[in-house]
Amino acid sequence: MSSVAVEGLAKSFGAATALHPTDLAIEDGEFVVIVGPSGCGKSTLLRLIAGLETPSAGRVLIGGRDVTALEPAARGIAMVFQSYALYPHLSVAENIAFPLRMAKVDKEVIAAKVAAVAELLELGALLDRRPRALSGGQRQRVSIGRAIVRDPAVLLLDEPLSNLDAGLRVRMRHEFARLHQRLGATMIYVTHDQIEAMTLANRIVVMAHGRVEQVGAPLDLYAAPATIRVAEAIGSPAMNLLPVRIARADAAGAVVTLPGGAETHVAVHVPPTAVGAAATLGVRPEHLHPDPGGPFGGRVELFERLGPLSFAHLGEAGTLGSIVAQLPSDRQVTLGEALCFSVAAVNAHLFAEDGAAYPRLTP
Ligand SMILES: Nc1ncnc2c1ncn2[C@@H]1O[C@H](COP(=O)(O)OP(=O)(O)OP(=O)(O)O)[C@@H](O)[C@H]1O
Ligand SMILES: [Mg+2]
Repeated sequence: MSSVAVEGLAKSFGAATALHPTDLAIEDGEFVVIVGPSGCGKSTLLRLIAGLETPSAGRVLIGGRDVTALEPAARGIAMVFQSYALYPHLSVAENIAFPLRMAKVDKEVIAAKVAAVAELLELGALLDRRPRALSGGQRQRVSIGRAIVRDPAVLLLDEPLSNLDAGLRVRMRHEFARLHQRLGATMIYVTHDQIEAMTLANRIVVMAHGRVEQVGAPLDLYAAPATIRVAEAIGSPAMNLLPVRIARADAAGAVVTLPGGAETHVAVHVPPTAVGAAATLGVRPEHLHPDPGGPFGGRVELFERLGPLSFAHLGEAGTLGSIVAQLPSDRQVTLGEALCFSVAAVNAHLFAEDGAAYPRLTP
């Protein structure tokens, strides 16, 4: 059993709170991805689970056992750090072999495992080098190798691919997915990369300002973010967020007034007391449909062709601010062209002034 749970876990550094009291339960074999802006407490949470920081409050359970007082080495976990933390005086091969040597594994077994990991991570030609003679990406791969060589039951990964080039990153992403299937290890993975988060995670944990904002399956968070911060953290390009006013509410949802005065429907429930209040409308770029009479308009300031998709960045001084719309790749667009869009009520999101989403109407 290698479930991971934290209960009331908190960490302060002096007067600054890096992690507010947090509860989180991760099942045995789950692949959980943590996302959130820089400084929100992701590494702190991982380091507390690993035992590299002492909590200010709360406890950590691994496999149902309270490990809060245990040394990192006694917790049965391996961690890949954001900064690689390799042993500078050891070669690449010795760095990878280190956890096996500590565990007194047979020399031949160690050699075979190191060779297998080196092949997987394309480190074969570097095995005799010292860490200082490696690039950042190469060091990161050594650090991954050292963590996976023991087939750990719980693997904590703090932005493990951030220094790799695009091709190796994609290969390693697939490798983590395979590794997870093969080992059945519980994996907790911090990343800023949307594709890694959406494709690897059984569940995503969104953090902001030292708190967990929402936990859920990737597509659930994508479809129904509970707060503005979740909406900002999931999806690329990000959800468009526009300041609006709630004009009226009825059985079909809410009608909101956009900055330019136009109106649009949102299929959410707003209480009568919220009518007249300021709110934030959220619309994903792929949900803006070209519509000559649509309420979302602007002139094309930037046009990005990504191959299968294109994104138009629209701006118009004094009205909507900047919005991003996804267009089919065959759509021809000229800079400065005026485009208008509309959004279906079921695809629009509405957030109250405190950032919480108004509940969606169930169809
Ligand atoms: N040892 C420390 N002493 C003081 N403050 C710290 C320490 N470690 C982290 N912090 C602070 O705690 C907060 C959370 O830091 P943490 O490293 O967990 O963020 P993060 O979410 O991992 O960010 P990033 O995405 O940039 O890696 C930050 O404000 C950071 O400055
Ligand atoms: Mg970090």
